[in-house]
Amino acid sequence: MTKPRSAFICQNCGYAASKWLGRCPDCGEWNSIVEELVHPLGAKKPGGTLGGSSAATPFHEVSSQEYTRFSSGLPEFDRVLGGGIVPGSLVLLGGDPGIGKSTLLLQAAEFMQRHGRRLLYVSGEESERQIKMRGDRLGIQPSHLFLLTETCLERILETVDQLQPEVIVLDSVQTVFSEKLGSAPGSISQVREVATQFLLLSKQRSIPAFLVGHITKDGALAGPKSLEHIVDTVLYFEGERYHSHRIVRTVKNRFGAANELGVFEMTSEGLIPVDNPSKLFLSERPAGASGSVVIGCVEGSRPILVELQALVSGANYASPRRMAAGVDPNRVSLLLAMLDKRLGMQLGGSDVYVNVAGGLTVDEPAADLGIVASIVSSYRNRAVAQDRVIFGEVGLAGEVRATSQTPLRIREAASMGFRQCILPHNSLPRQEQQPEIELIPVRTVQESMEVLFD
Ligand code: TYD
Ligand code: MG
Repeated sequence: MTKPRSAFICQNCGYAASKWLGRCPDCGEWNSIVEELVHPLGAKKPGGTLGGSSAATPFHEVSSQEYTRFSSGLPEFDRVLGGGIVPGSLVLLGGDPGIGKSTLLLQAAEFMQRHGRRLLYVSGEESERQIKMRGDRLGIQPSHLFLLTETCLERILETVDQLQPEVIVLDSVQTVFSEKLGSAPGSISQVREVATQFLLLSKQRSIPAFLVGHITKDGALAGPKSLEHIVDTVLYFEGERYHSHRIVRTVKNRFGAANELGVFEMTSEGLIPVDNPSKLFLSERPAGASGSVVIGCVEGSRPILVELQALVSGANYASPRRMAAGVDPNRVSLLLAMLDKRLGMQLGGSDVYVNVAGGLTVDEPAADLGIVASIVSSYRNRAVAQDRVIFGEVGLAGEVRATSQTPLRIREAASMGFRQCILPHNSLPRQEQQPEIELIPVRTVQESMEVLFD
């Protein structure tokens, strides 16, 4: 038998070097390289089939039966999963510590066991008593829910063999280790091994498995960016834990749309799904304040209205500050340059702050026109009328470009009681769909500012 070999593995990107290095040559991260024992060549490698036979199967003989999804009991959680839980799927749920990962999964577990599914909740972080106390707080009266506090992968798999659960939750993937590997729990090879074993487990037995993953300070799942390609679905808790509401976003989903969004409210009875997020995000909107604008976004398949705020103030230092939360700072810089060139607004001597109220992150370019409007509103100290919604992509020439899924945005604005919608000319629907909302098409940024402020 060959002796186990050690390798030096970057915990950030998985790069393997033959000697220790202070900086990873691949991803450039400092101090990320850790010595780990690796499988000697010729030793039995972990592996197996993902369900079905291990021989090749003719394409037409593969059953294409639709997955029968089942509910987690939380409509917003079902939504981010693509419409419910798919048997045999492996889901990674990531987020900052204390944001509600364990709470969400325990609530879903409670619902599933109440509907007769045998469920195994493995915790490597909390004692059984701690979980029980949390469960009592959430009003759980389980009979099919089994708790296991164990960090050894092999023993967890043994328990799974004995118990034959129909759903598995592993909280968290970073605390579990395999005896076969010499490296510490949470190291990249351990985390990968654990995820791979759970992948085989969930595919072979056709049971759904949920892995909880912690996020490091810089926003990556600790080590496991490399987990994202192993699992079927990646969900992240977004925003801050200081808000009472929690946002879960689908980053990847083999069984549904990516970028889907679920909104919850954290209460003393656990997480409660919020079915009308626009109402939540607009609930604290100040009346008649300059710099505040409501934009129509679409996240996944769902339209959401959010309030965007900008503050333009005189700079105290030679280099003015630009800060953006919830929107891309580079996008804001670009739009500021466009305002300078096309509208002649001199913002070189001003600090500019842009924020999406409520902690949501808005990536889509349809927010551009809203960002511009909020900056101009604050700069001129003129409020935008309360009953207006704005959206549109802005090009460098100051043109307003078409957005996708426009009817969805218009309908949401109308249903939230807005009276006017400023939208790209090219996105104007052919027939007036919502008579109760007035559509104001614009072609350029100049034109939009005239509509808004003259
Ligand atoms: P937790 O789910 O343990 O977070 P994670 O597993 O992501 O680290 O806990 C989230 C926070 O939510 C914790 O600070 C306590 C709070 N909380 C409530 O406000 N209400 C509740 O019903 C529960 C169970 C927790
Ligand atoms: Mg937890």
